Amino acid sequence: MDDDSDPAPARDRFALPPEAYHAGNSLGLQPLATREALAARLDEWAELAVEGWFDAVWLASADALAPAMARVVGANAPDVAVMNTLSVNLHLLLAALYRPSPERFRIVIDADAFGSDAHVAASHAAWHGLDAADAVRAHADVIDETVAVTLLAGVSYLTGAAADIEGMTRRAHEAGAIAIWDLAHAAGNIALELDRWDVDAAAWCSYKYLNGGPGAPGAIYVNERHQQAPRLAGWWGVDPADRFRMEHAFLPGAGAAGFALSTPSVLALAPLGASLDLFDEFGMPALRARSERLTGYLANRFDAITGVSLLTPADPARRGSQLSLRVPDARKLAGRLRSEHGVICDFREPDVLRFAPTALYTSYEDCDRAADSLAALVR
Ligand SMILES: Cc1ncc(COP(=O)(O)O)c(C=O)c1O
Repeated sequence: MDDDSDPAPARDRFALPPEAYHAGNSLGLQPLATREALAARLDEWAELAVEGWFDAVWLASADALAPAMARVVGANAPDVAVMNTLSVNLHLLLAALYRPSPERFRIVIDADAFGSDAHVAASHAAWHGLDAADAVRAHADVIDETVAVTLLAGVSYLTGAAADIEGMTRRAHEAGAIAIWDLAHAAGNIALELDRWDVDAAAWCSYKYLNGGPGAPGAIYVNERHQQAPRLAGWWGVDPADRFRMEHAFLPGAGAAGFALSTPSVLALAPLGASLDLFDEFGMPALRARSERLTGYLANRFDAITGVSLLTPADPARRGSQLSLRVPDARKLAGRLRSEHGVICDFREPDVLRFAPTALYTSYEDCDRAADSLAALVR
């Protein structure tokens, strides 16, 4: 495979840095359409001021992105809402779905859970008056009758390993637990079928593979069977037709949108819309297929380098487009890769380098640069 036989389908549609960019798992690059999308909102604000809510349909700006977002994660549009950011959304989902009883009170997280997920889980347990050290189990293999909720990662931020979301959701259900998924590193990366897999709920950010921009709004999925759950509520969860009545009784709107709380971030949603258009244009199946080819290519190149070891599973079905390498002095190496070789990747303490060749814009040449540079530095 090379750039002639398998070109990056949207490379010319992104603002590319001069370096070989392998950090799309951390912050996706900027689609060129972003600037215009954002400028359009700014013009509307300048010209319409408050009338923009109606004349430019800002009121529906988050709802308008739900169908495209739902296609990325394999869900029906009403089951997805674009809102807030990830940790906030995980809190909202736990507030609605984590109902501990004396017998069933545990939250299971991954052993290598992202720090924020551990904080979210522990703070919910404590909020309910439980001892978080007992109530939060950082061990995805032990799902028993004491478990109320599993809160697992679709793709590990550290190793790049993709979970068996369908199988783990089934296991949670067999144990009588609710399966909530953190899809930060999965959305826009691997093929997801949240509806078919019967996931209970999920949340993800959109600044990584979804290229929505730094701190872009995230999204949630709520299975239809939980859409009437008691929740932390705000006026944006009220049906749009009734919202401005200011009724004190909270009647949630239909679908996942009923979990929204606040006025949508109209400006921040504009770049996300521009990016989701690309996902619709190229489609997750084609992007996932290219991601497997590209990631396989880079994995083979890394395999040939002595002194580094691949933490990420070798089976393409068990990983997304991130390859994590265990290598001494990862922080220093990441710095040297950038300053001496023009290769941007990132590191996680103490000894992990992460490279993410992303399907939309990474080239085979970017992969060669990464592998050649790393080989030169660890030699
Ligand atoms: C796996 C995972 N979970 C949670 C978060 C926290 O996301 P946020 O800062 O948007 O709340 C991140 C952020 O990178 C993440 O990678």
